[in-house]
Amino acid sequence: MDGARIVLLGAPGSGKGTQAERLVEHLGVPAISTGDMLRAAVRDGSELGRKVESIMASGALVDDQTMAAVVRERLSKEDARAGFQLDGYPRTIGQVDTLDGILAEQGVELTGVVRILVPEDELVRRALARGRADDNEEVIRHRLAVYRDKTEPLSRHYEARGLLREVDGHQAIDEVTESILEALRAA
Ligand code: AP5
Ligand code: MG
Repeated sequence: MDGARIVLLGAPGSGKGTQAERLVEHLGVPAISTGDMLRAAVRDGSELGRKVESIMASGALVDDQTMAAVVRERLSKEDARAGFQLDGYPRTIGQVDTLDGILAEQGVELTGVVRILVPEDELVRRALARGRADDNEEVIRHRLAVYRDKTEPLSRHYEARGLLREVDGHQAIDEVTESILEALRAA
């Protein structure tokens, strides 16, 4: 599956990051997590980190313009030329347009969008068990509401473009990986 250009869609806690890491060896393309990039910026105390820290702590989304700069820079790096998996981007319709624009400039297209489906009570259970800085119940519930409101509509958008593949994320981690690979092979 050379040249895979994939978006991983899924609610907070659905396993995007877990699966992206495992898919690296299968797909041979880097996993790009905007959440991880922002958390690194916060740790480094960079200008970006100082700007996004309180937004992330509240479970709200960072604005589209800030995210566009982050993603544009990352996708221009050498290792992303032959493909990528995006974990956590795009998350709004505006971000979909930005991504399409960046890829059009590079003369490439997405090859698939994988939506990982997990029931909401399981999402909350997983996040509470993980205990990241933004993983208290109130913030988790807010992230889930933002997801439903802003990000879930993206699946209909990508379905209309014939790119969407849906996978049951409420299985053992290995089985989810297998399901994703199967869904991409069927594409
Ligand atoms: P981000 O880091 O993207 O967080 P998220 O969407 O809330 O997603 P998570 O990372 O919590 O979940 P995941 O789906 O990766 O699941 P994971 O593999 O960790 O974003 C954080 C914040 O950054 C946002 O709130 C926003 O402020 C900002 N941000 C980032 N991108 C942005 C953007 N594009 N625009 C605007 N703002 C942006 O798994 C979760 C847990 O479950 C783990 O403990 C894992 O071990 C476990 N687990 C995984 N799979 C399974 C399984 N099959 N069975 C049992 N347990 C499992
Ligand atoms: Mg993640």
